[in-house]
Amino acid sequence: MTTIQNVTVLGTGVLGSQIAYQAAFHGIAVTAYDISDEILETAKTRFAGLADTYIASKYEGAAEGKATAALDNITYSSDLATAVANADLVIEAVPENLELKRSTYEKLAKFAPAKTIFATNSSTLLPSDIVDFTGRPDKFLALHFANQIWIHNTAEIMGTTQTDPEVFASVVDYANRTGMEAIEIKKEKAGYLLNSLLVPFLDAAAELLVDGIAEPEMIDKTWRIGTGSPVGPFQIYDVVGLNTAYNISINQGEKGAAFAALIKRDYIDKGKLGVISGEGFYTYPAK
Ligand SMILES: NC(=O)c1ccc[n+]([C@@H]2O[C@H](COP(=O)([O-])OP(=O)(O)OC[C@H]3O[C@@H](n4cnc5c(N)ncnc54)[C@H](O)[C@@H]3O)[C@@H](O)[C@H]2O)c1
Repeated sequence: MTTIQNVTVLGTGVLGSQIAYQAAFHGIAVTAYDISDEILETAKTRFAGLADTYIASKYEGAAEGKATAALDNITYSSDLATAVANADLVIEAVPENLELKRSTYEKLAKFAPAKTIFATNSSTLLPSDIVDFTGRPDKFLALHFANQIWIHNTAEIMGTTQTDPEVFASVVDYANRTGMEAIEIKKEKAGYLLNSLLVPFLDAAAELLVDGIAEPEMIDKTWRIGTGSPVGPFQIYDVVGLNTAYNISINQGEKGAAFAALIKRDYIDKGKLGVISGEGFYTYPAK
């Protein structure tokens, strides 16, 4: 088993930034990679915001200096070869688009050293859909985090039939060392455990909206009161981020088309991306 110490995260969006910061907080040397220096500048602001969030959430040790110290554990690169040159583990959190993921792994396979384990954070794709593009099927698996990682700290770990059990064990160990609850999944399943439950729930809410049955506020209120859950589905959409919600709906083909069109027209095209932009189905205080 490898003790993973150097981690590169591909993509500094909603989840990539959280994955990178959580690792840095727990003492991992993190390289944050994104496609431009401009995006990486935005990421720096996002990481500073996460430091504040960890302190505000009373994450253990955050107020005692760990939250700001974590920022020093992150380096930035928009050059893929440099970003992965010393990585024990690359966690890929690029947009949920199969072709983009495949082409990302093709490039990654060329640049990463032989030792590097690749993990996808894909929400809905199977590692089997990607494995042939990795050039190292034995060192590839899914490591799936939930949004708001500092509170919802599941790390679902799911290999293909080709994943080396030692690699799987190394990633379980990494998850446990970085403040996560490692969830070991026995067989491939699109959506893992969490999204196998969550996505049909969110789809049902989307259908209620698209069919004109009720507005988001009413749907959320019903769920909260009726089940005692603290949040309703559209509050969850805002946390997930509407770009990802859009991509997931598009990937569903005809079934998701109407909701994808609605969120693009009424939200994404107006810059309303959910909590991350301060407005989605609801508005949020600026971060
Ligand atoms: N948002 C969620 O709640 C959530 C939860 C779990 C898993 N995920 C998964 O994480 C992945 C990323 O989702 P997100 O919500 O963070 O998306 P996002 O759109 O917020 O961020 C994607 C980031 O990837 C960057 N990017 C684009 N092309 C790239 C490339 N070729 N190489 C490197 N970076 C690139 C973008 O610039 C952006 O910073 C998806 O696979 C998604 O399914 C998302």
